[in-house]
Amino acid sequence: MKDAEAIRQGAEIIRGGGIVAFPTETVYGLGADAYNPLAVARIFEVKRRPYFDPLIVHIAYPAHLKKLVKKIPSSAKKLTEKLWPGPLTVVLLKEENIPDIVTAGLPSIAVRMPDHPMALSLIKESKCPIAAPSANPFGYLSPTTAEHVQDQLGDQVDLILDGGPCPVGVESTIVSFSENKPRLLRPGGVSLEEIEAMIGKVEISPIKDRPSAPGMLPRHYAPRTPIVLDWDEKHLDSYKDKKIGFLAFQEPENFLKFEHIEVLSKKGDFREAAANLFSAIRRLDALHLDLILAEAVPEAGLGRAIMDRLRRATSKEE
Ligand code: TXA
Ligand code: MG
Repeated sequence: MKDAEAIRQGAEIIRGGGIVAFPTETVYGLGADAYNPLAVARIFEVKRRPYFDPLIVHIAYPAHLKKLVKKIPSSAKKLTEKLWPGPLTVVLLKEENIPDIVTAGLPSIAVRMPDHPMALSLIKESKCPIAAPSANPFGYLSPTTAEHVQDQLGDQVDLILDGGPCPVGVESTIVSFSENKPRLLRPGGVSLEEIEAMIGKVEISPIKDRPSAPGMLPRHYAPRTPIVLDWDEKHLDSYKDKKIGFLAFQEPENFLKFEHIEVLSKKGDFREAAANLFSAIRRLDALHLDLILAEAVPEAGLGRAIMDRLRRATSKEE
């Protein structure tokens, strides 16, 4: 099927109250008409996502933001003007007619304009904003290829649009403007440094204290194989009878006795590492290893989003 024909079919499904998986620049989303509460409810069922975890609403024109929210503070306006389309989600006070199921009953709504031609065409042809979480079962890694979606949710969605691998590879950065000061709710595809250069200081919510983002549970993005991040080479001996995989940021210097090694970016480039992160973890997870050791990356730029996902993947809390 040609892309244009697939998108036309996807838009027809969305308009008819169905659900469609589609590529964005960050990860694949699972979308429904944001104004159709029954269609949105199917997303929660298919993902087994708790209803307290609100969705992001995707738009195709920056001007549509004002239809969804009460007011746009100047710093939010500045950010969206500079960074949309792109991996930035803004949380603002919502307009009354947004169904409660989309926002989990919160007074605020999360909105973004994705930077992917297929996503933008799908939204335009559907003629409605599309509410979409990442297209994975709740708590698991986000999909960055159409095959990832097919493997996990394939028979439960009405259509999967295939746009190849997602170029950014980690989810959007979420900034909330629903309090007095802008607050980073989730590090992601745009770095905090870039955002602060545009609007000044942004508050940061620590992982375990995110009252305004119910979906930010400590354990998330988790593969089935345990991942360990805070390991020490001195202790590798104690793992010697185990099948161990290694998730390396750069080419490792000593190859020890790992069963399998995934290198995120040979030259240590954050962008390349983020784009490879979820696929690499999935490949390791498929090998039935006892353990995955992950290498920490520096916490600057996109490194912050990579470390956030790794910490959630390793957290033992449910
Ligand atoms: O890159 C992305 O953002 C991808 C693509 C598909 O756009 N979407 C994505 O959606 O990552 P999801 O549902 O996996 O994560 C959205 C997060 C949730 O954890 C949720 O808690 C938060 O956004 N969120 C949504 N609405 C919110 C609100 N009103 N206030 C605070 N957090 C909100
Ligand atoms: Mg998700």
